[in-house]
Amino acid sequence: MTFEQLKPQVEKIVSNKSNLLKLNDCLLQICELLEANIPYYNWVGFYFKNGDKNELKLNAYVGEPTDHNIIPFGKGICGQVAVSNQNFVVPDVSAQDNYIACSITVKAEIVIPIFVNGENIGQIDIDSNTTDPFTEEDERFLEFVCHQVASMFQN
Ligand code: SME
Repeated sequence: MTFEQLKPQVEKIVSNKSNLLKLNDCLLQICELLEANIPYYNWVGFYFKNGDKNELKLNAYVGEPTDHNIIPFGKGICGQVAVSNQNFVVPDVSAQDNYIACSITVKAEIVIPIFVNGENIGQIDIDSNTTDPFTEEDERFLEFVCHQVASMFQN
């Protein structure tokens, strides 16, 4: 399925939040949608700032369970995005020093921050078992997804 075909499906999940679904259910449905339809998205999850702490906490995800439910700001790819506020595309995780391995099958990773009222509240994290799979199209699509997720925090 193409990104353009997936966009309305993401919007549909998000629009259900107000009447039918809780936030966490929406997030899980988005993870499931993306993992099922993009062959090189092999682990899809959302991390959010854990209250007042300078750490991320894992929320909904699809893929292998991970030990890294909590990630301190600055640690790993996710922790770096929490402080940089920038997209982080990693074509080859073995070339990264500050990387937290979750599975030996993972070759690449992309993390896109989620902003609500200009504040970085969390991120979508995607692992791929394929080396160098992500393009600018993935970034634009995942920015769209993060924008949709942000809208659920504003209503
Ligand atoms: N690899 C991430 C840790 C989270 S797992 O990918 C689920 C990182 O380096 O931050």
